[in-house]
Amino acid sequence: MLDTSTIEQIDQIATPFYYYDMDLFRRTVDHVAELAQKYDIKVHYAVKANVERRLLEYISSKGFGADCVSGNEVLHAHSCGFPADKIVYAGVGKSDKEIYNALKLGIEAFNCESLQEIFVINEMAHHYGLKANVSVRINPDIDAHTHKYVTTGLYENKFGISQHEFDKLIEILKKSEHINFIGLHFHIGSQITRVNEVYALECKRVNDIVRYFEDEGLKVENINLGGGLGVDYDDPDGNPIADFETWFGTIAQNIVRHDGQKVHVEPGRSLVAQCATLISRVLFVKSGETKNFLIMDAGMNDLIRPALYGAYHMIENLSASQRTFFPTHQAYDIVGPVCESSDVWGAGRLLPLSVRGDLMAIRSTGAYGQVMASRYNMKDLAPSVFSDALDEAPKMTDYFE
Ligand SMILES: Cc1ncc(COP(=O)(O)O)c(C=O)c1O
Repeated sequence: MLDTSTIEQIDQIATPFYYYDMDLFRRTVDHVAELAQKYDIKVHYAVKANVERRLLEYISSKGFGADCVSGNEVLHAHSCGFPADKIVYAGVGKSDKEIYNALKLGIEAFNCESLQEIFVINEMAHHYGLKANVSVRINPDIDAHTHKYVTTGLYENKFGISQHEFDKLIEILKKSEHINFIGLHFHIGSQITRVNEVYALECKRVNDIVRYFEDEGLKVENINLGGGLGVDYDDPDGNPIADFETWFGTIAQNIVRHDGQKVHVEPGRSLVAQCATLISRVLFVKSGETKNFLIMDAGMNDLIRPALYGAYHMIENLSASQRTFFPTHQAYDIVGPVCESSDVWGAGRLLPLSVRGDLMAIRSTGAYGQVMASRYNMKDLAPSVFSDALDEAPKMTDYFE
């Protein structure tokens, strides 16, 4: 929950907007930087979670690399201070234009997801007289025990190359002269909360696969285990920083690495989710036949996670928290303004009695929030507002004479 003075200040700002707690963000990144050193694990931030320039510039300043999944992410990461040789590029469908731009930039590695992709990159590198670093994304067929839309490491998912193609893959890697094979890449899913169990299992499987490739005569310099560490959406104040210690510790304990072999991870959500809150305002309170609705000015166009995955976000009434009388609580269906029945923030949520104009906080929205926003219904995009630059934010009064 934000403190009184911050609530008073942000109450002047035009809603909806993403409020970034820059202190929490920096503490999170600094903590990860310390652990990376302690466990000798390289970190590539998964840019897809949040592309806000100020965040990326800070992350790159800490010496982290970037994990990208599109050509534009590669270019953006580079423009935010990530050196080309610290940018890796995954994704099942890289276009020729995207491959060309990344080749020219000289990125650290293409994380290739199909045999055909390796073939195309080899051909293009040949054509331009270049050599491309390639890591191969393997589908290890591991259940990450998370939502089916964010599970990526099962054979039924489209990601990575599966075991039945290993022999063909090894043959292609050996004879592709414009490719420099540098390692293996894995990413089995997101919002993983059974950290010990899932990552110990992933490491065990990865150890076997790495051994297989090395026995076949391919040197695996880099082992990239992907991202996926979950955050606490139920209790963001109790657990503002994800359990990186357990994650890094589990990996360090279970991965087998020989001299000179590097281990990489790609956290996205866990670095940025808790530092942002989507701030909205109650536009109207409406009593339906069987329930009460709080209609907010932020909707699924600003944050699609609840509509897309049924994701839970804690919601607080900031204005009510400042009222001096003891408020009655009431159950509300909290909804957005978009003309879709799925535009619901939460059904039957118990909140203090809420009124038009109340400032509402939708918590833990720093990851997969703003990046997935759309202009559906021709709504404006919610801007970023930073805790250390509140004066720069547009005020409510700016829009009226
Ligand atoms: C290849 C890859 N690496 C890393 C991540 C980051 O995952 P998370 O945000 O769960 O840490 C993703 C996200 O889907 C991904 O596709």
